[in-house]
Amino acid sequence: SLPFLEPLLSGPRIVPVLVLDSVETAVPLAQALVAGGLRTLEVTLRTPAALACVEAIAARVPDALVGLGTLTRPEHFAQARDAGARFLVSPGLTGKLAEAALATGLPYLPGIATVSEAMIAWEYGFRELKFFPAMLNGGAPALKGMAPLLPEVRFCPTGGIKAENVQEILSLPNVFALGGTWLTPAEAVKNQRWDEVHRLASQAAALSPA
Ligand code: 3PG
Repeated sequence: SLPFLEPLLSGPRIVPVLVLDSVETAVPLAQALVAGGLRTLEVTLRTPAALACVEAIAARVPDALVGLGTLTRPEHFAQARDAGARFLVSPGLTGKLAEAALATGLPYLPGIATVSEAMIAWEYGFRELKFFPAMLNGGAPALKGMAPLLPEVRFCPTGGIKAENVQEILSLPNVFALGGTWLTPAEAVKNQRWDEVHRLASQAAALSPA
């Protein structure tokens, strides 16, 4: 079994999900989020620059806890570990991904959308799961419904979450954190409006009292 992510989280239980095109953007963006109080950051493996961005954030933003998500193939896992990712995330789960994740020794959040998928993840030994895409699959009521069926499982929902959903979702006992891209609007990132990112992060942080 793997270490848990939850004990590594300090402060707000909100994880910005980042789509990054360059290291030059990644570092000031991460700095703005950390300054706003959000230090657990998930870079997504959706751009050619993603691995370099994890390396840069790990090296140059020491207060950030940076992970890598959108891991969809077994070979992504060693790449993520070698880039310095401190935790790993997938949108779904297969047997090969489970093996590759276990081989890294890093906290891993496999994605699930249904009770059956959560049961399969549990059989592989995972107890912290990403509920994805969360709002499309029922949001807070769906998470509430899974609690009595999967009493050992804790979730990090992402997908379609906005500021107005945060408090309800974080109030659920089987939710340890949540994440999303609403904190880093593409326009703000493209135009390097780090003050706007800082403001969004601060507002989000205030919704998750320590
Ligand atoms: C993820 O990978 O977690 C999602 O892309 C984040 O979802 P969102 O863009 O709807 O916030």
